[in-house]
Amino acid sequence: MSAKKPNLHAAYALESPEDHKRLYAEWAGDYDESFAALEDYQLHIHTARAFVAAGGQGPVLDVGAGTGLCGAVLAGLGVGPIDATDISPEMLAEAMRKDIYRDAIEADLNQGIPTPPDSYSGVVSSGTFTHGHLGPEALPALIRVARHGAQFALSINTRHYETMGFAEAFRQLENGQIENLKLYEVRIYGDLAAGPNKDDTAYIVLFEKG
Ligand SMILES: C[S@@+](CC[C@H](N)C(=O)[O-])C[C@H]1O[C@@H](n2cnc3c(N)ncnc32)[C@H](O)[C@@H]1O
Repeated sequence: MSAKKPNLHAAYALESPEDHKRLYAEWAGDYDESFAALEDYQLHIHTARAFVAAGGQGPVLDVGAGTGLCGAVLAGLGVGPIDATDISPEMLAEAMRKDIYRDAIEADLNQGIPTPPDSYSGVVSSGTFTHGHLGPEALPALIRVARHGAQFALSINTRHYETMGFAEAFRQLENGQIENLKLYEVRIYGDLAAGPNKDDTAYIVLFEKG
C-alpha cells in the first residue's frame, strides 16, 4: 500500500502498466464513492447516452471498464450483452459484482485484446483515454475486435486529445478503417464537483468501423 490514498492527481501521473495495476488495485474498493460520487463524475453517463443516441447496439465492449459505471448506464438504457475489459483485475471484480456484464477480459490494451476479431457491434470507453492512460496507439486494437459498421463512443480528455495527436490518428484511420467521425465537447464533472479538475472537459468521439 502506498502512503497516500489513490486519487485523480495520482492517476494522471501514471506511467507503466505496473503503476496502473498497483493504483487501481488500491482504488477499486471505493472508486465509486471516493471519486465518482464525491466529484459528481458524469463522463460515463455522457458516453453511454451518446452511444445509444447514435443507434449503438450490443454486443458491446466497455474498454477500460473500471468498476463498470459506463456499463451500468448502458444496461439501464437497455443495451446488452456487454463485456468489460481492463488491465486491473480488482476493478474488473467490482464491475462483475454489478451483475451487468456478460464477461470480464483482463488485458493491457496497449498489447491488444485477447478476443477474436469482429466480435462486437459496439465499443464504448469512458475516462480511460486520459492523462497517464491510453493514447491513440490503442485505437487499432479496439477497431480489430469490432464488426463492420460497429458503433464507437469513446470519451477522450480534451487536453490529452490535443497533446497526444488524436486528430492526426483519426485522420489516418478515416482512410478506410473508420467512417462518420463526429465529436463534441462535454464537462467531465457536474455542478457538485469542487476539486481542481472540476471544469475539465472531454470529447465524446463517435464513429463507425468502415
Ligand atoms: C479512470 S478509470 C475509468 C473507469 C470507468 N470507465 C469509468 O468511467 O469510471 C481508467 C481505467 O482504465 C484502466 N486502464 C489503465 N490503463 C490501461 C491499459 N493499458 N489497459 C487496460 N485498461 C487500462 C484502469 O485500470 C482503470 O480501470
